[in-house]
Amino acid sequence: MPYQVCLLPGDGIGPEVIAQAEIVLNALGLEFQFTRAEIGFSAYKKLGTPLPQATLEAILGADGTLFGAVTTPPAIPGYFSPVVRMRQALGLYANLRPCRSFAHPTSRAGIDLLIVRENTEGLYSGVERMEHDESDPGRDRAVSERIITRYASERIIRKAFEIARQEHRGKVTVVHKANVLRLTCGLFRQVAFEVAESYPEIRLEEMLVDTCAMELVRAAEQFDIIVTTNLFGDILSDEACMLVGGLGVAYSGNIGERTAVFEPVHGSAPDIAGQHKANPTATFLSAAMMLEYLGESESAARLRIAVSDCLARNAVTPDLGGLLTTEQMTEQVLFELEE
Ligand code: NAI
Ligand code: MG
Repeated sequence: MPYQVCLLPGDGIGPEVIAQAEIVLNALGLEFQFTRAEIGFSAYKKLGTPLPQATLEAILGADGTLFGAVTTPPAIPGYFSPVVRMRQALGLYANLRPCRSFAHPTSRAGIDLLIVRENTEGLYSGVERMEHDESDPGRDRAVSERIITRYASERIIRKAFEIARQEHRGKVTVVHKANVLRLTCGLFRQVAFEVAESYPEIRLEEMLVDTCAMELVRAAEQFDIIVTTNLFGDILSDEACMLVGGLGVAYSGNIGERTAVFEPVHGSAPDIAGQHKANPTATFLSAAMMLEYLGESESAARLRIAVSDCLARNAVTPDLGGLLTTEQMTEQVLFELEE
């Protein structure tokens, strides 16, 4: 039975890197049946919505989904973020962002960490309101509610520990700010200590988010798995990916109970779209993560190694100081896969 893979090219360089990933996946000796679905500003222009219902159905009908990137257009009334909406609609509660060192001058050595970010609530719950003061506009207030539930905290923390167990990682660091956000972060922290009791072989460490931001810059090799709430995870994972080469190589997975969507961290990069400059590495590594999810660990490892080997001999696109076009870098990965 071939794997059913849904491709969501999206906008800008999204379709460019997704096309390269399709080529590379087809070179692994596995059988895939690809379907493509619409997402983003291009979908909005064609169909009047950035996230058609048919796209959600295509994702649910597939074994795994690979997503490129979307463009956020200038303010259009009624437009919404299809990425956030997709994560919510499909219950993709865990956002996983691995950061591993590459043998490349843009990467620091000795780093192998995974950020496990809660993807459905926290400050991104979407509960915001304006409180206008009729008598004094200087007293207008904008309020954002930060919702942390025991249910979602336990689900994400358990996920972090399960991955630690699977990948034989010895430590989970729960990152919070419970000294100030005593109730919301307090609950998240407490649940972490409760869940940790079921995993005696894994050490639980706690760290304040500001300290963590500092420690990532100072000595990221100390980290193994970091589990944290939505906003903290968003910021720390962007910070962490810069330690190992930046946007061209940063990849991620959004995991739910029913399905999973894998995507490069970067956006649609309109400044280089159509110029054959997009680095396909992040999408290749997202595809490798999808293979892992499908249970094809061996192919996943082959693809990761082929990509790392290209970086090691600087067979890369201009963003990493190389001379190759997007398509030439794909050829180099195919060459490594044949070795
Ligand atoms: P961006 O990630 O698209 O680009 C930032 C910079 O990095 C640009 O100079 C770009 O050329 C470069 N870059 C990004 N990916 C690259 C790659 N694979 N190879 C080589 N260079 C690469 O972020 P930006 O410019 O802030 O946003 C552009 C659009 O993307 C916006 O409309 C934004 O809303 C959207 N966006 C979408 C995301 C998604 O689909 N998940 C995530 C981030 C931004
Ligand atoms: Mg981000």
